[in-house]
Amino acid sequence: MPEVSIYRVRDTDLAAILREFTRFWGDREQLRPLHHPLFVAEFGDTALAARGSDGQVRGYLLGFVAPTRDAYVHLVAVRDDARGEGLGQHLYAAFTELAAARGAVALKAITSPDNEGSQAFHRALGFTLTRVEDYGGAGQARMVMRKPLPN
Ligand SMILES: CC(C)(COP(=O)(O)OP(=O)(O)OC[C@H]1O[C@@H](n2cnc3c(N)ncnc32)[C@H](O)[C@@H]1OP(=O)(O)O)[C@@H](O)C(=O)NCCC(=O)NCCS
Repeated sequence: MPEVSIYRVRDTDLAAILREFTRFWGDREQLRPLHHPLFVAEFGDTALAARGSDGQVRGYLLGFVAPTRDAYVHLVAVRDDARGEGLGQHLYAAFTELAAARGAVALKAITSPDNEGSQAFHRALGFTLTRVEDYGGAGQARMVMRKPLPN
């Protein structure tokens, strides 16, 4: 695990993340508008950023506990120079703790069928993956990833 600390997101984090967007997401520009301020302003209690000793964001997880009691992970990403060192797993662990304390019964995340890295990551974390046709709209299949939480 790199030298980072995990905190709740700050108001300024989204702008900092979007300035370095390609280091988190490469050319997946369609994901940029998904970084809506409501994930900080309204759901900030369950939105996390991992910061290095230089204060820069190395990874983040934006999520919330839905009325279904699923803890939904809207976006999770680790900067290209901090991958493969357990940071994604640590962000999930911190989120799981917050979500469980709010009554969540399962973790849920969605990814596209071509995002093999995300699928492998979630499998390694114990998620079950199901391909759902048209989940993202007509002709837009998505991988629905779920992991029950202990009672
Ligand atoms: C997916 C992502 C968040 C993983 O973060 P990370 O910090 O590199 O992952 P970790 O080091 O915590 O890995 C945890 C486990 O997942 C596995 N894993 C992570 N990325 C993987 C990959 N691309 N391929 C295969 N396995 C992978 C690791 O091997 C590790 O398994 P282990 O515990 O059995 O050793 C990161 O690669 C990323 O930001 N990708 C681009 C954005 C993205 O696709 N986000 C997910 C969208 S839903």
